[in-house]
Amino acid sequence: MFELHEIPLERSFGPIAKPVWEFIEQGLQRGKSIACFDYVPSNYDVVYAALEALPRGRFCEWGSGMGIITGLAAMLGFDAHGIELDASLVTASRQLLADFGLSATIETGDYFELRHAADIYFVYCWPGQVWRVEEHFLATASDTARLLVYFGPEDFRCEVPREVT
Ligand SMILES: C[S@@+](CC[C@H](N)C(=O)[O-])C[C@H]1O[C@@H](n2cnc3c(N)ncnc32)[C@H](O)[C@@H]1O
Repeated sequence: MFELHEIPLERSFGPIAKPVWEFIEQGLQRGKSIACFDYVPSNYDVVYAALEALPRGRFCEWGSGMGIITGLAAMLGFDAHGIELDASLVTASRQLLADFGLSATIETGDYFELRHAADIYFVYCWPGQVWRVEEHFLATASDTARLLVYFGPEDFRCEVPREVT
């Protein structure tokens, strides 16, 4: 049986390159015209700094919104995939990724129902839903995977499974 425990989340403190900022700004700009109550952008320089410090591998964003984090992961060399429920966001994020020449993929659907194998999962959901995300992660992810849970720029956590006897 496994439970989750938090491990330190390293950050890279290097400057963010101009093309990366342009991608972020374009995503934020385009996202403003999409009416989706559930879509709240995270703080992308904070997330980028954490992704940059992680070992590369397969990345999956649960609730990918405008696909900005999925795109940042692709820019950093991850094999990146996003899952998003809102059809308008799916269309807009695919267009954004294509416009910036990024090969990351966005899948339409409910991440509680879809399975996408990854080494690192990212989620920014309502705080009251985190327990359900954690249960879903434990039930579906490999026991070497990491779950990045974003609550806000000052509270960004990395959780990993730990076997309990
Ligand atoms: C708070 S926003 C975060 C967006 C993006 N991850 C970011 O950090 O900028 C949450 C996103 O998750 C999507 N979402 C919520 N529940 C979902 C579910 N069960 N399956 C797929 N997407 C979901 C919402 O439509 C919204 O775009």
